Amino acid sequence: RFSNPIQLPLAGKKVVVTAGPTRERIDPVRYISNFSSGKMGYAMAEAATKLGASTVLISGPVELPKPEGVRLVKVESAAQMLEAVLAEYDDASIVVKSAAVADYKPKEAQTQKMKKKDGDSSIELERTTDILKTLGAHKNSQILVGFAAETNDAIGYGKSKLESKNLDYIIVNDVTDPGGGFGSDTNVVTLLTRAGKSYPFEAMLKSELANVLLEKIIQEERATVD
Ligand code: CTP
Ligand code: CA
Repeated sequence: RFSNPIQLPLAGKKVVVTAGPTRERIDPVRYISNFSSGKMGYAMAEAATKLGASTVLISGPVELPKPEGVRLVKVESAAQMLEAVLAEYDDASIVVKSAAVADYKPKEAQTQKMKKKDGDSSIELERTTDILKTLGAHKNSQILVGFAAETNDAIGYGKSKLESKNLDYIIVNDVTDPGGGFGSDTNVVTLLTRAGKSYPFEAMLKSELANVLLEKIIQEERATVD
């Protein structure tokens, strides 16, 4: 009597996506950051939702509208992003770390605007926590997907990040490729799997690519379960 509803592949699954840059405050008017636009991460969140997932998008400061149907959690620093991701981690099926997390932060954030002084030449920095590595070290059944934006030997660096962070997949791209990179609406990537497979993709709109990447990951997961 009822038509069989077509089950979307991520129905009933929680997908957590991080996107955008982080900002590490130097003082009330200055920060350290990077050129991430957040477009790839927002596209991943939108694609996951269309595939039926209940999606949480944890985003650094970007100029993008909230994708429809997504729960948006806005953060600023790497420390805030870590906290927000950990709060969503336990019941997540897939975590996609598209964010370009700042690797360093000022050792001390000044509460007053710093004044320039003759002879001043440096700010003391320290490393931020590697969020993805932390997730990889505490993985239960989550599928962990990382990104690696490189300027050279993208595949080589991608493979070593996949291993060192205990990931299931990593999406690598060469940011110097004319078909993609920061700010661009298109991207050229290769998907590397934990099992050692490598899937290169043609230049595509980030929105289209996000869907293709998730579909590929779903297909790979089915293949390993069956
Ligand atoms: N990442 C993270 N936390 C950090 C740094 C990176 O979670 N503090 C994640 C990114 O979100 C991305 C992956 O790790 O999914 C790879 O980031 P990338 O900057 O390419 O690698 P790093 O390990 O930071 O190494 P490097 O920048 O030196 O190449
Ligand atoms: Ca980095």
